[in-house]
Amino acid sequence: MRDKIRILFNYMSGLACEFYDIKPIQLGCEVRGVDLKTENRPEVIERIKQDVTNHSLLVFKDQGIVSGDRHVEISEWFGELESTFYKHPKSPHPDVFRVSNDEEEGCTGVGRTGWHIDGSFQPAPFAYSLYHMVAVPKKGATAFAPLSKIVEGLPQAKREEWDRLWMMSDRRTGPIHPLIYRHPVTKKEVLCFHLGMTSAFLYDYGSSNERLASKEECRRILKDIHEEFVKDGGRIQYIHEWENGDFIISDNLAVGHEATPETQIPRSQVGLRILHRTTVAGTTAPSK
Ligand SMILES: [Fe+2]
Repeated sequence: MRDKIRILFNYMSGLACEFYDIKPIQLGCEVRGVDLKTENRPEVIERIKQDVTNHSLLVFKDQGIVSGDRHVEISEWFGELESTFYKHPKSPHPDVFRVSNDEEEGCTGVGRTGWHIDGSFQPAPFAYSLYHMVAVPKKGATAFAPLSKIVEGLPQAKREEWDRLWMMSDRRTGPIHPLIYRHPVTKKEVLCFHLGMTSAFLYDYGSSNERLASKEECRRILKDIHEEFVKDGGRIQYIHEWENGDFIISDNLAVGHEATPETQIPRSQVGLRILHRTTVAGTTAPSK
């Protein structure tokens, strides 16, 4: 009986899935009843890809330890991998970024320079990021936030200013991206941004009114963006407290994220933290 009610509920909420259980959480959905280590049926993979697009973030529970090779295989469902990071000697695969709170185990101090999407320094930012916590500390959450909701909720004056803004990455060869643009698949308005890796903003890029924002304006704009993520006590944020076996697939263009300060607490206080992450190349440069 309970199963029938669940199926009916899922059907009515548009979540019916014959392959696994999927349940909405604050941002995206939690998924149970699929084993990513062995799942290879094309129809299930197709359904997972659709669900990532529809819900922006999927948290797969109870996955045990997914090997580096398998993490890469799952990532390849979504496209070609693009790996621009420092390769830690303990990384299980050249395409797996290994992050830790112990420098012997992985790269430390990662993701703490501010809210961002991954790969804003590329001509096309990464389309997907896939995260798997292989050693779970007592504390050390990752915070995510839905970008289209942030754009929708902007006060009018901010919206008008952001519509004119383009970000310049701090990498020398970095491209220039519109701050607000439409997601290439969902067509929802999202943000291309990195609060810790932006060297400047341009107003009205490509028009006769084009001008570089002053250093002061730039600082203020970064602060304004940050404010949208933390206002009202950070209500827009989904704080993911990691549990053993969690594997997250995120639509990187739809979701901003930041490592919480607790991710930096040393191993001696909270136990070992090891996060594996892959990134899938973007195929479309953000455009107005
Ligand atoms: Fe990141």
